[in-house]
Amino acid sequence: MADTGNHDAFVEFKRVQKSYDGENLVVKDLNLSMPRGEFLTMLGPSGSGKTTCLMMLAGFETATHGEILLGGTSINNIPPHKRGIGMVFQNYALFPHMTVAENLSFPLEVRKLGKSEREAKVKRALDMVQMGAFGGRRPAQLSGGQQQRIALARALVFEPELVLMDEPLGALDKQLREHMQFEITRLAHELGITTVYVTHDQTEALTMSDRVAVFDDGRIQQLAPPDQLYEAPENSFVAQFIGENNTLEGVVTSISGDTCVITLDDGEEIDAVPVNVHNVGDRTKVSIRPERVEFNKDRLHADAHTLKAKVLEFIYMGDIFRFRLSVAGNDEFIVKTRNAPDAIKLAPGQDIEIGWLPQDCRALDA
Ligand SMILES: Nc1ncnc2c1ncn2[C@@H]1O[C@H](COP(=O)(O)OP(=O)(O)O)[C@@H](O)[C@H]1O
Ligand SMILES: [Mg+2]
Repeated sequence: MADTGNHDAFVEFKRVQKSYDGENLVVKDLNLSMPRGEFLTMLGPSGSGKTTCLMMLAGFETATHGEILLGGTSINNIPPHKRGIGMVFQNYALFPHMTVAENLSFPLEVRKLGKSEREAKVKRALDMVQMGAFGGRRPAQLSGGQQQRIALARALVFEPELVLMDEPLGALDKQLREHMQFEITRLAHELGITTVYVTHDQTEALTMSDRVAVFDDGRIQQLAPPDQLYEAPENSFVAQFIGENNTLEGVVTSISGDTCVITLDDGEEIDAVPVNVHNVGDRTKVSIRPERVEFNKDRLHADAHTLKAKVLEFIYMGDIFRFRLSVAGNDEFIVKTRNAPDAIKLAPGQDIEIGWLPQDCRALDA
């Protein structure tokens, strides 16, 4: 009997590989399973294989190896227009000679819907993106953000079960981008659409997604909900790529259960969680978030290891204070605190001691 895959999965990549030149794999053994209604983001640096994955799912590229399933059925041999997928791209050109309404009507004509049904759906799609009054305009008479909303409406107008978006907000300014991020997630959840979203912007990924797949070098490095990705990165790449992160290098000198002691390269000792280290003597990069570093001794556990640090810079950011420290030879060690009434303002040149809860410091791969 044919393997129909995971029954809870709506979208499934099984051992998918892709090579464009028959030699180098740009996607290496991709396994991914999405339930219906999920908003999943593929996040990663340029060239990590995100667009290639989306193109294979859309049907514009074929997988070199492996299988892609939609609703439990292999779609490897189904042409793009029969997959029922909506798409939005960064520079997804609207047809310039057609009005907005005609642009939206087009995918419905292709699907042979009657005139009155088309008009009703176009109106609904335009209202959805709050562009109801713009049906008669041509794309050139719209701002970038308005065009992008129309592109979104066009991807949704035929009520696809699955929508793919490849850096759709890259060309917009910050304010509009943030507004559209909110609009897109709201629409996706309201309409129950399954979405695969591609971006290289980690803030966008964290704020919009149910889960994020972090790509590097053609592989998923970690697939997790945003909070887990940020708070429990599984390797150094993810720790560095997501959010601001401090790294200190050293060697494991003891491990007991879920804590370990690391001797840093300058000889100081710190406590950490052994994540990617297994034996005494292993080299490691420990990772700690700037907001989890404590320099108020009253808040530290009595037997926590502390580290000497020198304050190099104080940056006032309004809601938070940001300090740059020299710690164990690292002059880019960042600490952040909230601008609370009792917040301590450190001055450059000051010598302090810092520490953290052992569970906030993760010993990762070297
Ligand atoms: N049509 C193509 N022909 C040959 N190589 C390609 C093609 N498209 C992408 N690549 C290569 O595949 C790799 C992954 O690209 P891509 O999937 O576009 O990454 P991303 O979207 O993460 O930036 C890159 O090295 C890129 O140069
Ligand atoms: Mg891309």
